[in-house]
Amino acid sequence: MDKKATLSLNDGRSFEFPVLTGSVGPEVIDIRSLYGKSGMFTYDPGFLSTASCNSTITYIDGDAGVLLYRGYPIEQVAEHCDFLETCYLLLNGELPNVGQKDEFVTTVTRHTMVHDQLNRFFTGFRRDAHPMAVLVGVVGALSAFYHDSLDINNPEHRKVSAFRLIAKLPTIVAMAYKYNIGQPFMYPRNDLSYSANFMRMMFGVPAEEYKVNDVLVRALDRILILHADHEQNASTSTVRLSGSSGANPFACIAAGIACLWGPAHGGANEAALEMLEQIGDVSKIGEFIKQVKDKNSGVKLMGFGHRVYKNYDPRAKLMRETCYEVLNELGLQNDRLFKLAMALEKIALEDEYFVSRKLYPNVDFYSGIVQRALGIPVSMFTCIFSLARTVGWIAQWQEMISDPEYKIGRPRQLYRGSVPRNVVPLAKR
Ligand code: CMC
Repeated sequence: MDKKATLSLNDGRSFEFPVLTGSVGPEVIDIRSLYGKSGMFTYDPGFLSTASCNSTITYIDGDAGVLLYRGYPIEQVAEHCDFLETCYLLLNGELPNVGQKDEFVTTVTRHTMVHDQLNRFFTGFRRDAHPMAVLVGVVGALSAFYHDSLDINNPEHRKVSAFRLIAKLPTIVAMAYKYNIGQPFMYPRNDLSYSANFMRMMFGVPAEEYKVNDVLVRALDRILILHADHEQNASTSTVRLSGSSGANPFACIAAGIACLWGPAHGGANEAALEMLEQIGDVSKIGEFIKQVKDKNSGVKLMGFGHRVYKNYDPRAKLMRETCYEVLNELGLQNDRLFKLAMALEKIALEDEYFVSRKLYPNVDFYSGIVQRALGIPVSMFTCIFSLARTVGWIAQWQEMISDPEYKIGRPRQLYRGSVPRNVVPLAKR
């Protein structure tokens, strides 16, 4: 029997709605006909109870601390796959076999260079511009360069744009960094892996050979895997909403990057590291926690809490593991901020305030420490997140465009402004 939900109003009216079932996760009441039937909207700012789309890409069980990419637990993906395999999985729904992976890697690799004219874009920015400001601008500008892949109704164009974005983001992110520090741009090297190439473009200089460190490359690759997709978060929803109007993929990804920049979203690892610097010492943790609990202080424990995870973020566990590996490799086991983070985490996990609100560390609590150890400056953290999330955004955008039920996104509102009134001419006001 098809399950139905009934909405009963105390004015005697009642309406029935279908209940939809996903493969796992909560059932969903299909209220699309609500306005037509009742003349009423639902009210859900922040989308606390609203599924904005149906999707087959990523699944999160926030209470159990589970994250699946196309059905595969993130722990297994992080252990057995590299970032480009993860990209293939997110885009195509299945893991590649050896031949498919070779072809995918070759295609991405062949798109790593950017149009030479794009280099000049950077000089228009101040050297001290935040790299995220540069990234939003330059990625948006890609639509001015790649006219041959802008027809969103053409699946081949969509595919080429996806390859271009995944392949060029590392080049552009590294260019934003090099511009910032006044070093020459490093062109991509296609004999290196995706992550090794990125590290060379970030940290290499033309004057000498760059030595690839496999442990550090693997750590960066893991950061990319863990941030690759996270279902309908704020930036992904931004990409979907921008794309729903038919905007081109480069413009949509630029919109996603802009949204990710906020400290409640992708900016959190930057904020978490700044917070650790600010606390400075284990002896100051008690005082800091006191401020966090004081609602009037406006201070939050950055890297803690999540809209969906009400349990330990599974990505945070993996990131903590990577943190140990990287610090060991670099002989930084006694790293001041890492020790501080461990002490802070322990205290917070035992504190009634955090326990009762189910506030656990999220991925950003540790990813900042790993990135800092890799030599990535704090101002670049959200750029790395953007680079990783580009595949998730593009997979979700592709899914939306291919969905026969797709419509322009157009939320409604509860209007609380003035009722109709007449304009009083200026002289009489
Ligand atoms: N520190 C202190 N208190 C917190 C925190 C925190 N980090 N997060 C939530 N709370 C409190 C909040 O004040 C509220 O308390 P009360 O019930 O007494 O009013 C309660 O916990 C519930 O919080 P909420 O604001 O309703 O939760 P939300 O789902 O709206 O916010 C969040 C989620 C991630 C925006 C928030 O936890 C936060 O700001 N965390 C710090 C920033 C951060 O680490 N963000 C990264 C998220 S993971 C990366 C990503 O996926 O983008």
